[in-house]
Amino acid sequence: MVRCCPGTNPRRDGRGRLTRGLMLVGLLAMAGLLSACGVTDDPQSTIRQAGEHNARIWSVYNWLWIGAAIVFVLVEALLVYTLIRYRRAPKTAHGRPVPVHGNTTLEVMWTIIPALVLVLISVPTLQVIADLSSTPENMGEPLRVDVIGHQFFFEFRYPELGVRSTNTMYIPEDRPIDINLQSADVIHSFWVPVLAGKTDNIPGRTNHMWLSADEPGEYSGQCAEFCGTGHALMRFKVVAQTEADFNDWVQNQLNPSATGDPAVGEQLVTAGACAGCHAIDGTSAGGAVGPNLTKFGAQEQIAGVVENTPENLSAWLHDPAAVKPGTAMPKLPLSDADIMHIVAYLETLGVDSP
Ligand code: CUA
Repeated sequence: MVRCCPGTNPRRDGRGRLTRGLMLVGLLAMAGLLSACGVTDDPQSTIRQAGEHNARIWSVYNWLWIGAAIVFVLVEALLVYTLIRYRRAPKTAHGRPVPVHGNTTLEVMWTIIPALVLVLISVPTLQVIADLSSTPENMGEPLRVDVIGHQFFFEFRYPELGVRSTNTMYIPEDRPIDINLQSADVIHSFWVPVLAGKTDNIPGRTNHMWLSADEPGEYSGQCAEFCGTGHALMRFKVVAQTEADFNDWVQNQLNPSATGDPAVGEQLVTAGACAGCHAIDGTSAGGAVGPNLTKFGAQEQIAGVVENTPENLSAWLHDPAAVKPGTAMPKLPLSDADIMHIVAYLETLGVDSP
């Protein structure tokens, strides 16, 4: 059989074309997928910014992005040039390409250039890290909030105001929030992607960070450190309000009205720690650890020990172990107002409205 030169075998040519075609399709699919990454409706997208903390990170991120794009274009251009220019290397007598042993100039160049690039990247990066380590002084009076991580919810305490909340952090807009991070059990990580980078809550230690929101709105947050089976449910919200609305919220927390609001209670239960253990059909609460609460309002007893009345439910929520020693139900750091709303909500469950 006559052996012929490569490139003229029709079968092999066909296979080559197929491979090239498949590669092109793959590349196009990848480009399509990547272009979808630019969509920023996602409430936890890190490529949105709504506060000064993220704006500062973005100042360096933009710079790095442009630098990386320039390096990419240069390297790819050199690669393509080399592939085309040297696609037929000189051959030895045996028909193999001539081996090349080192090129000092090239090796020195490709050591020095990346080192220079790293130095150029590190200067603005370190500047921003240092810049973010202390609360800005030119943005008005900071508000202090202590953020305590629990399995599996965040508690927010406002020591200067004497109020606290669970799972929702209320802040005034356009004011630096001075945050102390602590943990009651294991390591958690406090993260509001649109407002600031993440910082860990570490047991026995107080970490510090700050953030601010440019305008009123709801910003989604998430524990960003695996902390146990309920980690994925450890979500929270930052609600930024005008200074006046925020002051109203503080006043309401300090002097709660006598009756709870079932809608607020539902929000606290379904989006809060309760949903980690309890399920309520027809809501997002789907925990399987504790009893299902779908018909709670129609139940005769609470935890099988006391009569189901709003007063008993309130006492139970304030301190479950005082009502039923040894219960697995934890004492949650709920404010009096939170409990009032939750009682109002739970007592409606399974009760036909008149
Ligand atoms: Cu807390 Cu993950």
